[in-house]
Amino acid sequence: VARLLYISASPKRDLSVSRRLAARFLAAYSTRHPEDEIDELDVFAADLPAYGADHAIAKFALLFREQLTEAQGAAWQEVIGQIDRFKSADKILLACPMWNYSIPWPLKQYLDCIMQPGVTFGYDPQKMIHLGLLANRPVQFILTRSSIMPGDYADFQLPYLRYAFSAMGLNDLRVVSAWQTTKPSAEARAAYVETFVPQVEAAAAAF
Ligand SMILES: Cc1cc2nc3c(=O)[nH]c(=O)nc-3n(C[C@H](O)[C@H](O)[C@H](O)COP(=O)(O)O)c2cc1C
Repeated sequence: VARLLYISASPKRDLSVSRRLAARFLAAYSTRHPEDEIDELDVFAADLPAYGADHAIAKFALLFREQLTEAQGAAWQEVIGQIDRFKSADKILLACPMWNYSIPWPLKQYLDCIMQPGVTFGYDPQKMIHLGLLANRPVQFILTRSSIMPGDYADFQLPYLRYAFSAMGLNDLRVVSAWQTTKPSAEARAAYVETFVPQVEAAAAAF
């Protein structure tokens, strides 16, 4: 039995295109793997650590073997809890809209939490490169955006997600990008979403 962590990053719930495509992906996936466990982490609804001073100081204090205050220790425990949940996934599905050329802020908050030197990634100062510390595993991105085409120079969503995940050692990154998703009527939107379903179902079959 595998554990699939489904990270969703749109606050629009039932009106979200990325969530709708992810639901189709999961329906196709669950038909093939009915026993697998799906763990959903909605970054807008989850009580993510409000990553601030204690977290930021604890991050480097641990690296330099300095003493943590009680508040910093508690902040670090929150971080480790989120990393444990992420690490325990055999497969990861991320559904994410583009927000201002990049990713929605709670997803950035989540990545700030789980991207930790010495825990999820290392650094080689000689070669000046990041080294992933997590075991590789399949990751499916389902990305949405309106006007910015995949491959556009203004796309800071996919290149950023690619870099962040591979910095942690996750290199098996699969991508379905839907674009021009903003349509004037609910009917037009629903029909347009359908055009991406074959890609999403093919991705689920290969997952
Ligand atoms: C705050 C906000 C910022 C957005 N910024 C961009 C953008 O920079 N480029 C773009 O192509 N679409 C942008 N969009 C459009 C969304 O990416 C698009 O509607 C997408 O389908 C939303 O996915 P969702 O329905 O899953 O939330 C933005 C939407 C919102 C709400």
